[in-house]
Order: sequence, then C-alpha cells, then structure tokens
Amino acid sequence: MACQTDAMAATVVTRTRAQLETVRAALPAPVGVVFTMGALHEGHQALLRVASEANASLLATIFVNPRQFGPNEDLSRYPQPFDEDLARCEKAGVDVVWAPAVAEVYRNGEPQITVDPGQLATELEGASRPGHFAGVLTVVAKLLHLTRPDRTYFGEKDFQQLTLIRRMVADLDFDVEIVGVPTVRESDGLALSSRNVYLSTAERDRAVALSAALEAAARTAARGAGPDDILAAGRDVLAAAGLDVDYLVLRGADLGPAPRVGPARLLVAGRVGGTRLIDNMPVSLV
Ligand code: PAF
Repeated sequence: MACQTDAMAATVVTRTRAQLETVRAALPAPVGVVFTMGALHEGHQALLRVASEANASLLATIFVNPRQFGPNEDLSRYPQPFDEDLARCEKAGVDVVWAPAVAEVYRNGEPQITVDPGQLATELEGASRPGHFAGVLTVVAKLLHLTRPDRTYFGEKDFQQLTLIRRMVADLDFDVEIVGVPTVRESDGLALSSRNVYLSTAERDRAVALSAALEAAARTAARGAGPDDILAAGRDVLAAAGLDVDYLVLRGADLGPAPRVGPARLLVAGRVGGTRLIDNMPVSLV
C-alpha cells in the first residue's frame, strides 16, 4: 500500500469495487477523498493539497459521470487525459486512485432511485441544465458510500454544487465532513475550469470579464451600495465585453435570498463562443 508520508510511493490505481474495498480497508485514518471527473488542473491540485495536509491518507476518484450530462451536452467531448491525471495525482501524494468504468459504478444499469436535489437545483445552473444536480448528487452519494471518506473536498468554483452537497449530507445524515476550497484563478482573475481548454485565444481574453464583473460588483458592495447598484456594476463589465450572459445574481451565503447585511454570494454564468462558463465570489454586504 502506498502511503502519503513516503514521497516516492506510487499511487495505486484501482478499477473495480473489490480492488477499491481492499486498498481502502488498509488506509490509515483519517482518509481524505477528492472526487473528480479527471482533466485535472491547478484547481484540483489545490483540493488535493488541502486534503493531503489534513489527512493521513488521500484517495481520489476519476470518473466522468454520464448522468450529470444533459442531452445537449457533449459527454464524448469531455477531455479524459488519464496518464496526465495520474501523474498529477502521484505528484500530489495521492495514495489511491479509483477510476472505475461506468458499469462498475452503475452496476444495475440506470438507477431507478436517485437523489432529489430539491428547489435550489432548478435555479441558476439547474435552470439551463435540467437533471444535472440530480445526476451529481446521486453519483456523489454513491461515491461517498463506496470510498467512505472522513472528509471530502469540493471547489467553491462550483458553488451551487458545493451548497447542494452540503445540504444532502446534512439532510440525509451522511457521516462525512465536507470541506469547501476557494477557487484557483489565473493571474488576471479567470477561474480555472476544465472547460477553459475549449476557449480560443480571443475567447479566453473575453472570458476574464466574468471574474472582472464579480470584482466590480464586490467593490461596489464594499462601498455600501444596495443590490441594484451592485448588480449594475457587474452588468456594465459584462456588457462591455459583449458576453452572452445567462445570469448575474446576488444571493445569501447558502444561496437563499440575499440578506440586507452580512455574508452573501455573487454568481455569474455566461457563454463565451460555444463554451458555458460560471464563476462566483463571496461578498460582504455592509
Ligand atoms: O465537480 C465535479 O467534478 C463533479 O461534479 C463530481 C463532484 C466529481 C461528481 O461527478
């Protein structure tokens, strides 16, 4: 068994449930787990780094979950650079990778019983991606059962996903700690995303307007402005870049209605060329 304290130890790659169970049983606790769909970038590295620092063992899953892709979302286009992903896992000190086939995860075929993600899953990302969060929560529930983490780590980049996972774990009494890890950004502010590889150079330059809009809105909030002015500041930046905006909203920190004062969240989604991108930022309403 590879162990995180041995910097030279190789990551053990498992494919079947039986292999996973055998190596998982030998991992020293606490066990930190990072669920991924592969195509790992610096954002995932940050999750692995935080998890590795806080746990005795580190497990990562690489599984492109078909059930969270809609009929118009091209699953076959999703990048799957397994060798590069594995190299990143090795470098991050991952003890075990579980990279199962679809039939290994969904061994009874299409699940008849799935997690109902509730009202929040119909809003924001859920409004344009029907069924997406049911697919995410169902696979996360399965992965939690199969990997049995003490702690799991999710990026704040997918803030609605993180919020829904926290809620599922609380409402359905999963015995696991969920840790949110701040978004990793390029030096100009663009949030790292596996989808950034689809952007042309010109699109990449325009995409930075998403984070710039959030920053402009957050600066306006810090001056004590109300919600209308906060959102107007963000919209101005998006309009100047000519982005096809889906939403720019101000919500509470739990994605409920924004409070009058206190912690809140700004969220934005838009299409740059053919690529849909999202971003979000914490904001303090004063
Ligand atoms: O954030 C992701 O990469 C996926 O939604 C997750 C959590 C691994 C579930 O497939």
